[in-house]
Amino acid sequence: MCGIVGYIGTQKASPILINGLIRLEYRGYDSAGISTIEKYGISIMKDKGRVKNLYNINGIEQLEGNIGIAHTRWATHGKPSKENSHPHMDNSKTFSVVHNGIIENYNELKKFLSDNGYHFYSQTDTEIIPNLVHYYYSKDNNNDDLKFLRAFKNACNKLIGSFAIEIICKDYPNNMLVVRKDSPLVIGKGENENYISSDIPAILSFTRNFYLLNDFEFVLLSRTDAKFYDKNLEPINKNTQTIEWNTASAEKEGFEDYMLKEIFEQPNAIRETIGAKFNENSKCEFDELNFSKDFLSDFNKIFIIGCGTAMHAGLAGKNAIEKLCKINTEVDIASEFRYRAPLVNEHTLCIFISQSGETADTIAALKLCKEKGAKTIAISNVIGSSITREADYSIYTHAGPEIAVASTKAYTSQVVLLVILAIYFAEILEINTNELSLLKKEILKLPKKIEDTLDLSSRIRDFSKTVYQEKDIFFLGRGIDETVAKEGSLKLKEISYIHSESYAAGELKHGPIALIENGVTVVGIMTDPKLVEKTISNLQEVITRGAKTFVITNQQVDNSMFDFIVYIPETSPFISPILSIIPLQLFSYYISKEKGLDVDKPRNLAKSVTVE
Ligand code: G6P
Repeated sequence: MCGIVGYIGTQKASPILINGLIRLEYRGYDSAGISTIEKYGISIMKDKGRVKNLYNINGIEQLEGNIGIAHTRWATHGKPSKENSHPHMDNSKTFSVVHNGIIENYNELKKFLSDNGYHFYSQTDTEIIPNLVHYYYSKDNNNDDLKFLRAFKNACNKLIGSFAIEIICKDYPNNMLVVRKDSPLVIGKGENENYISSDIPAILSFTRNFYLLNDFEFVLLSRTDAKFYDKNLEPINKNTQTIEWNTASAEKEGFEDYMLKEIFEQPNAIRETIGAKFNENSKCEFDELNFSKDFLSDFNKIFIIGCGTAMHAGLAGKNAIEKLCKINTEVDIASEFRYRAPLVNEHTLCIFISQSGETADTIAALKLCKEKGAKTIAISNVIGSSITREADYSIYTHAGPEIAVASTKAYTSQVVLLVILAIYFAEILEINTNELSLLKKEILKLPKKIEDTLDLSSRIRDFSKTVYQEKDIFFLGRGIDETVAKEGSLKLKEISYIHSESYAAGELKHGPIALIENGVTVVGIMTDPKLVEKTISNLQEVITRGAKTFVITNQQVDNSMFDFIVYIPETSPFISPILSIIPLQLFSYYISKEKGLDVDKPRNLAKSVTVE
């Protein structure tokens, strides 16, 4: 959701900026723009629509400047239009700014600036920022090296909301300033050049050395240097961190789309996430945790919180923690949790799941739990992301960069990590020890079983061709399979735009069955031996009413009554979602392809939802 790129160095900035924006396209956007410092002053080129439209703007090829800022906008305040696109300048055309996030007090600041003679030409909250900087700049009579920084700091200290901001100034042609608060931004360090980006993958081909910023840290960038200051402009020391992801991991590597590539990367993502946390004969260990029995025994309640797919992974975590550790566990959607006065205290453990680590609602829920005295664990795929810096403890999935908006390998990696976490807790609490060693053996077999499941790809593609024109598709399951039904249904709506619902199979008779008529497709997931027969009965009820059925199972069932069935490898129900979701990921993918849609960048969606 909105993307920021910046460059300050010795090369021509504009191609680097546009290339960076293309790599951030997956975040979701509706307009794009760049601004560079040229010999004649600041240039801005922007428009609504795709990043590649920037190449059609007259004069873009002639830009020579080697300092610049760039932005993809996902409209919040004001419709997508050229005027509302970033960058935005102040009235005197001294400053140019790009901004991610939302300035909540912008009306008040706009009024203040209007009263002081400033005019506004867009409907955005962002346009107040360059003007507010100009306001403080024009009041400062001390023309030293830090005047630009002082004005920027004074303006930012007035902002309420979330922001990641880059700003350039025509009077300081060798500098750029950035700051962040509750919105992602990283700085990549090169040789005599610095890169700025919302996300690591966009600049991974230039550098692996990154500075990760905390809230309200101001950065004064030159070509050779990055100086850091706190909100009072006291200097701060900061070291770079090396990111292990390789450049190829952010490329398509011969696959038609990122999503297909990421589906096929799951054996490795799971292997990497299991890592060295245990082997068949050893106990689970998390280098980052080191919990004791006393520490864990103190919790009488666990919350698992996330949004979208991450929340669905949390449901598999709840199943494992409650059954293996006997601790009452609740899963909630972050945007609901944060406003429902949750009963959280110092005896509550709160686990936050976020692939990106930047989802605004998840971060807000985390802050709320900390205020209430709970202990917090973040699960993220991105080292140094915001939730990992807020939480008391952080553990990581090692799925590698996930670029497609629809999450696949991050989900399965989150599920396996949560189950391993549950085993780790149970071992410390000394519960269920026999069951745990069997489960660990099953987890170690997962990469191979995922590979076998991926072999179903061409059969699923052929079946998808028969249903891609459907208007509604329903997903049913019981127990752990219901959690997969939810995720399968979400995947389908995200990328195929087919209306889809998921239901606990037992709920069918309490309403949803009224929607079943001749030809409607119903997907049934049945992997829990204890519940298979019950789900079959529910499927029979829809078949009787004319439904077409697609079944995913690892049990020997009479297949004659179903229209299409795929058998996946048998495994423990704790980790079955990791296998049973794969046919559904492929199903959604192939339907989307058959419909000719943009699989990686579905309409209206953003990979990283950094506003609430
Ligand atoms: C967006 C993405 C989803 C993702 C959700 C949570 O809606 O499109 O794929 O599941 O955000 O993202 P997070 O980064 O917090 O896991």
